[in-house]
Amino acid sequence: MKTLVIGKGGREHAIVKALSLSPSVSEVHVIPGSQGMAREALCHNISTSDDKAICEFVSQKEMDLVVIGPEAELAAGLADSLRSAGVLVFGPGSDAAQLEASKVFSKEFMNRAGIPTAKSIVVTSVKDIADHLSEWPPPYVLKADGLASGKGVFICSNQDELLCAARQLFEERSLGHAGLKALLEQSLEGWELSCLCITNGKDYQELALAQDHKRLKEKDEGPNTGGMGVVAPMDIDPLLHEQIRKTILDPTMKTISSMGMMFRGVIYVGLMITKDGPQVLEYNVRFGDPEAQVILPLIDGDVGEIMMSVARGDVPELHWKSLYSACVVLAAEGYPEKPVQDVAIEGDLFAETGSSYFLHAGTKGDGDGRWLTGGGRVLNAIGLGSSLREARENAYQQAKAVSWPGMQIRKDIGNRVSREGPLEVI
Ligand code: AMP
Ligand code: GLY
Repeated sequence: MKTLVIGKGGREHAIVKALSLSPSVSEVHVIPGSQGMAREALCHNISTSDDKAICEFVSQKEMDLVVIGPEAELAAGLADSLRSAGVLVFGPGSDAAQLEASKVFSKEFMNRAGIPTAKSIVVTSVKDIADHLSEWPPPYVLKADGLASGKGVFICSNQDELLCAARQLFEERSLGHAGLKALLEQSLEGWELSCLCITNGKDYQELALAQDHKRLKEKDEGPNTGGMGVVAPMDIDPLLHEQIRKTILDPTMKTISSMGMMFRGVIYVGLMITKDGPQVLEYNVRFGDPEAQVILPLIDGDVGEIMMSVARGDVPELHWKSLYSACVVLAAEGYPEKPVQDVAIEGDLFAETGSSYFLHAGTKGDGDGRWLTGGGRVLNAIGLGSSLREARENAYQQAKAVSWPGMQIRKDIGNRVSREGPLEVI
């Protein structure tokens, strides 16, 4: 079959790679893609917000399946436009995408379904927050309602920080429209887990559990980022796993189904495992980035066929390799606030072994054979192994193949979950 992927980052490179390794897939195209993935797919310079041009391309090239990677295109209704044109799509409609695109909608959904989540109130001004301060103990969590590329959540340890974040959102309008409404949310303590499922809007199959590392620095210090590294699968207590299914996944799917949402794709449930049990931090309506990078290579089967099956409305049973995987993010200097671009990358960006390789998240060629930084998260070093320790060692070994001035890398990816002790790296 002929497949088209929408997007250009590390997650989309992981999808492209998985499709290119699928026996059922004859062609992999990407809009817009990147030079870093051009060895595995044909990239096309079409705007991802131009639904008409994308529909025309799909019809002309007779694509069989479209896989939409990023949330913005899903929220904007690209899957709906393609489905209206009779195209099979892996990715939910804009109705279901509200679960990610509006934190207020998502919280109302969870409350309606009785899903455990932090208590919250909707706020629209600094005064709103000042009026409620006495009812809330610190630390405070303030979440912009709309899509903000990972920049919409403020964790504030005291009232001054909270009021400063509120002024940024409501008065300076730092996130524009996305931050005109927000949730003031109770802070939860515990450890985080990413639980992704493929779904047809009614039935679901869980993907390998993963753990992302959101903070920029080791020991979970520094600002929140899109994710600095991830490991999978996470072996968790079977009783906790059952509790996640019963109290979170089952009611989530039941409510999606009862609301009649068009959801054929992957739902990502971000969890905080607290001493009172698992609670939902957020829903995403697409593969995580970098979760996709570690989950997809663990699937034992034809990823193209699986995605096609979901696009048709079925949920196939999944089989897993008995492997572990790790992804270490190599980020640009200044990430996440202001990544420094156009810095020359030394080394071999296409180095690979049987158990490690790079995925390109934000690289660009300069036309003369040199590679430059072209985004915040630049490269993902992926390692596979028969233990988590081996997977992490392979990922860190891979990371050594490149370097550039100011490169940022967390050296403790997977340490917390590893029962095998911390790794000495680099
Ligand atoms: P979200 O986009 O809602 O998942 O938030 C991004 C990150 O902020 C999460 O992965 C957590 O690390 C943190 N976070 C979000 N909500 C809370 C909360 N209620 N309590 C503690 N940390 C939170
Ligand atoms: N890894 C976090 C996300 O994709 O939202």
